[in-house]
Amino acid sequence: MAGGNTHSEEPHNTNADTNQPGSFSKRKRWIIAGIVAGLIILGLAIGLGVGLSNRNSSSNATGSNPRSNTSPETTPSTTGASPSATSLWQPAVGVKWQIVLQAPINETEIEVPVYDIDLFDSTASIIAWAQGQGRKVICYFSAGSYEDWRPDATSFKPEDYGNGLEGWEGEYWLNTSSVNARNIMLARLDQAAKKGCDGVDPDNIDGYENKSGLDLTTDTAVEFVTFLADATHARNMSFGLKNGAKILSRVIDLIQWNVVEECLQYDECGDYQPVIDAGKPVFQIEYPTTEEKPSYVSDEKKNEICGSTGIPVGFSTVLKNMNLDEWIVQCPARTSG
Ligand SMILES: *[C@@H]1O[C@H](CO)[C@@H](O)[C@H](O)[C@H]1NC(C)=O
Ligand SMILES: *[C@@H]1O[C@H](CO)[C@@H](O)[C@H](O)[C@H]1NC(C)=O
Ligand SMILES: *[C@@H]1O[C@H](CO)[C@@H](O)[C@H](O)[C@H]1NC(C)=O
Ligand SMILES: *[C@@H]1O[C@H](CO)[C@@H](O)[C@H](O)[C@H]1NC(C)=O
Repeated sequence: MAGGNTHSEEPHNTNADTNQPGSFSKRKRWIIAGIVAGLIILGLAIGLGVGLSNRNSSSNATGSNPRSNTSPETTPSTTGASPSATSLWQPAVGVKWQIVLQAPINETEIEVPVYDIDLFDSTASIIAWAQGQGRKVICYFSAGSYEDWRPDATSFKPEDYGNGLEGWEGEYWLNTSSVNARNIMLARLDQAAKKGCDGVDPDNIDGYENKSGLDLTTDTAVEFVTFLADATHARNMSFGLKNGAKILSRVIDLIQWNVVEECLQYDECGDYQPVIDAGKPVFQIEYPTTEEKPSYVSDEKKNEICGSTGIPVGFSTVLKNMNLDEWIVQCPARTSG
């Protein structure tokens, strides 16, 4: 379920091939890869010098743009022990973001500090390119559902999943306690780390809300989110909770942000206030468009949503269509309730 929360009836585009980065010619990608490789080598050379000369000064690991510091210490490691929580990237409350799951991002699209994009459909080079623009990249994947079109789909066993997600063809609730399913998620986290994602956005951890045909409960969700967050942090990536108001209080210390869908529509944004209080952003999506006009919202509707007191101060609110393509309207920051 890539767009819309559990209330959604919108069918998902299940055709993996249309998601491939067709907008990027192979040639362009090679050129970018070459430039990126050159920059990395240059960066390492400079970084080594800086690293040696700065050995005794305290480094600011949580600076606004750690990636621009190319010293060897900032190179993410997937082999070491769990990095301390303070070295993890922690985005600020109210930071602007964009989420594009339907198409790969391209070089014209980077306009906000944080991008949430599909793990499988995004290449390491486009992620490195975005980071080279000073942006952070969050990689989306579904952690709580089996999607039959993903490249690793054959790794799932039939006993790992239950009922289909209503309205989302080819997608089934996962038994998140299954060792096999968890190992697949660890492999996805390895892939995210390898591609250079700054953080991950694992979807569908809230199957307890639905008729999954499995024994999913808030307790199993807390257990699963803890498992995922620990494994994510061990790979030096940050972790966001997706929706999950019912388990938020039990996992809030583990998360670096919360991605929330349609909380205004269902009048439950207040449930996520504790995230803001903890100094972490709430990345809120509302889906106000119609199927006939997926890239349009009237000024009146925009002002109604963005100005609503139903949205707590500090939320990073965007208006999107269910396809989660490039179309976006950013709500200006609200400064008073
Ligand atoms: C890049 O994305 C923008 C919109 O986000 C789109 O208008 C443009 O056609 C895309 N460019 C390529 C080369 O696909
Ligand atoms: C972990 O990531 C943070 C933030 O991106 C970075 O500052 C830090 O150096 C990284 N630590 C390791 C061990 O790679
Ligand atoms: C989840 O359950 C709600 C009703 O509780 C239903 O409206 C929704 O379509 C379901 N979502 C999925 C993805 O099955
Ligand atoms: C889910 O997986 C766990 C661990 O393998 C197992 O104990 C449990 O019975 C499974 N639940 C269902 C409904 O299959």
